Amino acid sequence: MAERARRGKVTVVGAGFYGSTTALRLAEYDVFDTVVLTDIVEGKPEGLALDINQSRPIEGFETRVVGVGGGSYAGTEGSDVVVITAGLPRRPGMSRMDLIETNAGIVRQVAENVAKTSPNAVLIVVSNPLDEMTALAQLATGFPKHKVMGQAGMLDTARFTTNVAEELDVPVSSVRTLTLGSHGDTMVPVPSRCTVDGRPLTDVLAADRIEHLVDRTRNGGAEVVALLKTGSAYFAPSAAAARMARAVIEDSGAVMPVCAWVDGEYGISGVYLGVEAEIGRQGVKKVVERDLSDSELAGLHEAAEAVRAKQADVADL
Ligand code: LAC
Repeated sequence: MAERARRGKVTVVGAGFYGSTTALRLAEYDVFDTVVLTDIVEGKPEGLALDINQSRPIEGFETRVVGVGGGSYAGTEGSDVVVITAGLPRRPGMSRMDLIETNAGIVRQVAENVAKTSPNAVLIVVSNPLDEMTALAQLATGFPKHKVMGQAGMLDTARFTTNVAEELDVPVSSVRTLTLGSHGDTMVPVPSRCTVDGRPLTDVLAADRIEHLVDRTRNGGAEVVALLKTGSAYFAPSAAAARMARAVIEDSGAVMPVCAWVDGEYGISGVYLGVEAEIGRQGVKKVVERDLSDSELAGLHEAAEAVRAKQADVADL
């Protein structure tokens, strides 16, 4: 019988909705030997792992999921990829930035443990506020900057694409969009790089409709939080995080919008920021720079300065 090549180990820290759906997606890809799901709560990750493993005969995947509770890192050692979902989600009315102090303590502690147990891992951070938590994870681990990235751009771009497709009643596959900047108030949706069936979005939609879709994209996370009332989105976020982990283990070189360290691209240096990047076995292979309109570029610089100020604060939290 043909044995599908699987390799490597991925750990997902945090067995909430985001973490558990990420673990499930990663297991269903069937590209890792092992997915380890951890949590401070005892029993929850073990139970979720058991449940996911029992879906293997139905869904037809061989990846084993291992649950580790009680805040232990036993079993995570030597992970190739670690996805950090630990931290609190927002409640209705909160901004992601309202989580900064609480989540900084949690992410710092997780990052320090990961550095000890999986010193060669590529880190994918999803905890909020995203850009700041990504910077903090790099500081706390001391990992090379290209091996630490954050998940946000793929999610924000997916939301933008969905909004455009729904507005025009066309398949999502016919729409290409892009968002850059922060995963927050200074997110920079980039209409000049968006197309519908290859035609510029600006030819297909009136400026005020594009502006409406841009606003909806910027508030995409809050829109879900307001409806759920407890917790934040996890289906689309976990899809994005899992794709990033897969691109790492497959060394695919796929170009994705991610939160990455920028070093001169767009005239910006020394900050974690949402940009497009080639993803591979070592994390970010290369930041890909695009032509932007003057106002989009100004928006990106504004986002960089906003994130830079907060990233400096986070070092002391
Ligand atoms: C969101 C959260 C996960 O945007 O940041 O839904």
